[in-house]
Amino acid sequence: MKEYAQKDILITGGAGFIGSHVVRRFVETYEGYHIHNLDALTYAGNLENLRDIEAAPNYSFIKGDISDTDYINQLFSQKGFDGVIHLAAESHVDRSITDPLSFVKTNVLGTVNLLNASLDLAKRNPDFRFYHISTDEVYGALGNTGLFAETTPYAPNSPYSASKAGSDHFVRAYGETYGLPYVISNCSNNYGPNHFPEKLIPLFINNIIHNKPLPVYGDGNYTRDWLYVKDHAAAIDLVFHKGKKGETYNIGGFNEWKNIDLVRLLCQLMDAKLNRAEGSSEKLITFVKDRPGHDLRYAIDAAKIHKELGWEPSVTFEEGLDLTIDWYLKNQEWLDHVTSGDYKAYYQKQYQQ
Ligand code: NAD
Ligand code: DAU
Repeated sequence: MKEYAQKDILITGGAGFIGSHVVRRFVETYEGYHIHNLDALTYAGNLENLRDIEAAPNYSFIKGDISDTDYINQLFSQKGFDGVIHLAAESHVDRSITDPLSFVKTNVLGTVNLLNASLDLAKRNPDFRFYHISTDEVYGALGNTGLFAETTPYAPNSPYSASKAGSDHFVRAYGETYGLPYVISNCSNNYGPNHFPEKLIPLFINNIIHNKPLPVYGDGNYTRDWLYVKDHAAAIDLVFHKGKKGETYNIGGFNEWKNIDLVRLLCQLMDAKLNRAEGSSEKLITFVKDRPGHDLRYAIDAAKIHKELGWEPSVTFEEGLDLTIDWYLKNQEWLDHVTSGDYKAYYQKQYQQ
């Protein structure tokens, strides 16, 4: 068996938003680990996110699709990973409404493929661990009060959250049925560098830069709990190493914002950064047709991970937003690259409807 410090760790979805921050953290922190980043490079995956670490001796990229059963079985028997941190997914709720099957394929079938391929490795290595990165959306919607706890019953409302709930259930079932050592975490809305500009914060930053409308769904009175992506990566590191086998941990920012208030704050910050007249970005706000099945409010009770593993967010929302806006202003080339191709075609089609 390999020593603790010499492990082959598979991270799936490492070319995406959160995955790239997790890959970087692991490559830079654990020199003895070899980090294998498996990613299909869909519209959301971009190797530019990892340019700074791609030459590291303890990092390799593998282009591959987790929904391809034979491929995954072959890869696992060749590489003999010591642990899996699984982030690869179709992640955008709006896309799940127009194309649910892609979400079933990647999020459900892809996860079950990884679980099946992990069984043999877990039999041979008592330290093997399967870690599924999941979302608070599996719990459904909250009213104006209350928080999601780890014990909150699942009640997913979108095809995306149903597919993530399904994959969580499969992970748990593989633990109960086959004894696969697993851990799951369910996190709230992330924001930060490398976030694909179809999600609220990066989309609106990009639109403000280009003086385009800011499409607020419905009346904007929907609430999300926002967490800086590097704080999520830190939590993932802790849960992978210290989380108890067979447990679930909720991760959140203790940071609830109504969409419309968040958008107004973003507009003010962007006006200041871009030296535009106060109030000019707010004029871009356009209320549009609501998202079907739109969850009213998400809010995480992150007491368990705080109490058991000592995790808490390291940056305030003000600091995190400042860092995020600065990153997007400095990386407009990245924005231009990722908004060409498939993304553009998808949104042009959406806008025509
Ligand atoms: P993302 O869309 O930015 O990245 C997903 C990555 O997975 C991309 O690099 C993509 O190429 C890859 N991928 C997609 N289908 C694949 C397939 N079939 N095979 C291999 N790779 C594939 O997503 P994200 O926002 O970074 O989310 C990462 C994970 O965290 C997801 O599982 C998501 O459900 C979960 N999560 C996200 C948030 C959030 O706020 N973004 C919050 C909680 C949980
Ligand atoms: O809660 C965790 C989840 O957060 C993750 O599991 C998902 O992968 C991630 O995409 C995110 O889901 P949301 O649907 O909450 O994120 P999104 O950025 O799409 O939307 C945030 C809120 O803003 C939501 O209430 C819908 C609204 N919205 C979104 C967009 C893209 C708008 O009003 N206008 C928009 O154009």
